[in-house]
Formats: sequence, structure tokens, C-alpha cells
Amino acid sequence: MIVTTKKLFEAAYGKYAIGAYNINNLEQTMGLFQGCLMSRSPFIIQISKGARTYTHKKMLEAMIRTADEIFPEAVFAVHLDHGDEQTCMECIESGFYSSVMIDASHEDFETNIAITKKIVDAAHARGIVVESELGQLGGVEEHVSVSEADAKLTDPDTAKEFVERSGCDSLAVAIGTSHGAFKFSGNQALRFDVLSEIQRRLPGFPLVMHGSSSVPQEEVARINAAGGALKGAKGVDADQFLRAAELGVTKINIDTDGRLVWTRVHREYFQEHPENFDLRPPGKVFMAEYAKFIAAKNDKLGSSGQL
Ligand code: G3H
Ligand code: 13P
Ligand code: NA
Ligand code: ZN
Repeated sequence: MIVTTKKLFEAAYGKYAIGAYNINNLEQTMGLFQGCLMSRSPFIIQISKGARTYTHKKMLEAMIRTADEIFPEAVFAVHLDHGDEQTCMECIESGFYSSVMIDASHEDFETNIAITKKIVDAAHARGIVVESELGQLGGVEEHVSVSEADAKLTDPDTAKEFVERSGCDSLAVAIGTSHGAFKFSGNQALRFDVLSEIQRRLPGFPLVMHGSSSVPQEEVARINAAGGALKGAKGVDADQFLRAAELGVTKINIDTDGRLVWTRVHREYFQEHPENFDLRPPGKVFMAEYAKFIAAKNDKLGSSGQL
């Protein structure tokens, strides 16, 4: 059943976080639904602009509608990840998405508010909720000084004004994470000090953590042992998810970890079976491994058993 994130966030606030997982293909979709039913978790399926153009946006929509039929007990929201103005409008008009993210965080404060407000007005008219972002996620390099790095984090003092003036329903905050497999290149950590200042100014308001893959070292080691070359890959400690949830984080975005599972399964499979060329045997392994991975992640998020 497709639901609005509003309902999911109300139930989760202050207690646990909902996993928001990116999908691009059929195998990820199957594994995601299976994993969330294994752990009895509500979840968010998120679709990036890149995912919409990988095959065809209608292909993703059809897969999700069909998964909803195959797994009638599943409870999930369908969310556009990192939308620009045009893609948000398309998704709002399509009537399929229950939630969109407008990411104008690279714009100046006033422009970010103006663009977000425009999307909020269009979305709310159709009962769709909007995530927006304030601050700049990582890519913070070691040579960047502390004050420079801090300047990219979400400013707690302006977060409240941003939310009030833009009308967004949830806010993605920059608190030290970054996208991809190479996080915390210096000695940065999750900035709980900044997060708690944001929550103090926005009590009860749902916050979102992007760039939250854990990049398990065992996964990286297995990929490298099977021919990969991922050097210095590092992620967020999943044991910190519940602490973030207590401070108002209700949605945690995970994409990279799923890609690592895919890469590990396929590298190992073809290394062990060099004579094989059928795509289904590794595909089967991947779906099972991905489901297991999702269920374990939901345990860390605290969303397990919340269906
Ligand atoms: O934040 C980015 C997500 O991991 C989606 O990645 O744009 O390559 O689909 P993508
Ligand atoms: P990761 O790259 O850490 O998986 O983050 C994904 C994300 O934030 C998608 O919006
Ligand atoms: Na940003
Ligand atoms: Zn993101």
C-alpha cells in the first residue's frame, strides 16, 4: 500500500527512522520488498533522476505498482530523490509519487526558499508532501579547515526560518555525511551537536539524513578480494541511527550500500563460476542477499516490527 511519508514520520518521530532506499531495477525492487516484509518494516522507495532515465520512468512505476500487488502487506511511500524544479513538477503531475524532494540547496538561501515554496504549493494542492534541503552535504576534504567545513553544514539558526517560509514538510540536513562510498575523509564524524541544535529550534519537525550508507568494511574487502579496487571506502556507523532518530531524524537515505551488495555478489559469482554467463543465477543470489541486507538495516533503523 502506497502511503504518504507524513503518516510514516508521525509514527516514527523521536523513536526510530524509516529507511529510504534507492531503486533502479527489478532485482533491487524485489529484494527491497522482500527484506521489508521479512523485518515487518514500513519503508520509502526512492527514485533519483538518474534512475528515471536509466531505463524508462514508466518502467520503474510499473515495477512498483506490480510489487505492490505481489506484496499486498507492504506499506511504503514513493519518493523522488534529489529533484530539480522540472522533475518535481513532472512527478507531482504524474500522480504516482506520494512525496518529492526539491534539492535547491546549492542555491542561495532566498532562492532555495523561493524554489521550495513553488514546489510546496504545487505538491500540497495534490496532497503530496515535500522534502527540501538546507546546507551542503560532504565531499569535505581533509585540507578544509573546521570553520570552512562548518559553513557547509546546516545552520540551525536559519533552519527554522527556512522551514517556516518555504512550507516544506521535512528537511534534509547536512550534519557531516556525504554521498557515496568515501565518507569522512578527514576525521569528521556525525555532528550530533549541530543536529541537536536544529532539533531544538524545530521540535517535532521531521529531519532527513542523506548519505547514510555504512559502507561495511567486510563488503569492501570481499569486493576487493574478487577483483575490485575500492580504496579507503568508509561510511556512517549504523549504530548511531537510533541516536539520530531520537534527535528528530525520521528518514535515513541508503543507496551506496545496496550497490556494494550488488557488486560483491556479481564479482564473487563470476569469479567462482567463470564458465557461466546466465544472468539469473547471480540475480537470484543478489535478490536474496539484498533482502537480507535490507532487513538487517531496518533493525539498525529501529523500523523492524513497526508494520
Ligand atoms: O543521492 C544520490 C543517490 O545515491 C542516487 O544516485 O543519482 O546516481 O541515481 P544516482
Ligand atoms: P549513500 O550514498 O550514503 O547511500 O546516500 C544515498 C542518498 O543520500 C540518496 O539520496
Ligand atoms: Na545539498
Ligand atoms: Zn541524497
